[in-house]
Amino acid sequence: MMRTKTLLVTLLSISVLACKQDNENELGPPLGSTTPFGLQAPYYFPVLEVPADNPLTNEGIELGRRLYYDTLLSTNGPFNGRSCSGCHHQSNSFSVPTTGRAVLPHVNLAWSRNFLWTGKVSGTLEDIMRFEVEEFFQVDVSVLQSRSDYVRRFEQVYGEETITQELVAKALAQWFRRMSSANSKFDRYLMHTDVLSDAELRGMMIFQTETGDCFHCHGLPLMSDNSFHNIGLDAIFTGEHQGRYLVTGDPSDLGAFKAPTLRNIALTAPYMHDGRFTTLEEVVDHYNSGVNPSPTLDPLMTKPGQITELLLSPAQKADLVAFLHTLTDEEFVSDTALASPFR
Ligand code: HEC
Ligand code: HEC
Repeated sequence: MMRTKTLLVTLLSISVLACKQDNENELGPPLGSTTPFGLQAPYYFPVLEVPADNPLTNEGIELGRRLYYDTLLSTNGPFNGRSCSGCHHQSNSFSVPTTGRAVLPHVNLAWSRNFLWTGKVSGTLEDIMRFEVEEFFQVDVSVLQSRSDYVRRFEQVYGEETITQELVAKALAQWFRRMSSANSKFDRYLMHTDVLSDAELRGMMIFQTETGDCFHCHGLPLMSDNSFHNIGLDAIFTGEHQGRYLVTGDPSDLGAFKAPTLRNIALTAPYMHDGRFTTLEEVVDHYNSGVNPSPTLDPLMTKPGQITELLLSPAQKADLVAFLHTLTDEEFVSDTALASPFR
């Protein structure tokens, strides 16, 4: 069934209009003046949840953006001299080509509840940012405190003169909510403002039906089910390939990883947690004929009779790849509002 056919054309704005001044009592004295930021997302997106004590504001987003692009954030830490953007490039949907551990992109994480390949951190963006600031970057806040520009900005946004790791995490969380993307060719098709080619439409049908069965784990609109699966990359799991098992200790999680979003997938090679595939063609070949059976293989990876092959023809595989290319949001990767503020 083509579920998308039934979608309507209306744009629903998910406005986050919580106003700073409403929180006066919880947060103490009135804060500097900030402007609420209303994040727009199409009607087919889930409702955006924003913690009451960290409402989206223009000034908060700008502060988070600066922190993300500023190498000061890593001074005296294990990544000394690097910024978040050092490994998360806008042109790659905030991922970056690497060997080894693949860099997860930063796109629509506002709707994510499980973070990192193994889901080591779950919760809100504030929770994952706390991890990034405290454990991964070990941010030395005294470095930020010595910069009057940062002190002024934190005071304006959070009403605090003392910069803490907690406030750094909150500002970064605002910025991550801003890194949302919903203007791919496929989105425009859903909104009836663009058309897909015949090949792309055939690829969509493979993706969205039992033929390819991709939608179960990479469903609309986030193109991820926010969950963990063993997709049969290996048959035996050692070291980092044990995946989610390393977090839960549950043998049924052996080899399971977070289903990453497929938004902007054409821009985020190499693929899989260890970057083992360099092209989308290789990825499709894996799903078509490379799946390794193992006791924890996700049941969605087999058809009746324990068959792990999709039996797609070369033309069907090419159609599927053509569809994956429609998930690229060119605006998102070239939007100057998402680029470095230091240029
Ligand atoms: C040295 C390279 C590097 C730097 C610098 C870096 N990251 Fe990452 N980032 C990665 C890698 C690799 C992953 C995937 C790691 C994993 O899941 O084990 C990742 C994953 C993430 C994720 C999880 C995304 C998801 O879909 O679950 C978030 C959030 C994130 N990084 C935020 C940040 C922030 C914020 C900073 C700056 C404080 C930062 N990163 C700096 C390499 C980096
Ligand atoms: C059972 C759930 C499931 C199904 C079905 C599934 N995927 Fe995935 N997909 C995942 C998981 C989990 C990963 C990450 C696996 C890893 O790195 O170990 C992934 C990774 C990918 C990646 C690489 C993403 C990246 O950022 O590296 C692509 C591309 C992809 N899948 C496309 C597809 C296509 C196309 C189909 C249908 C033919 C499909 N998937 C079916 C769960 C699934």
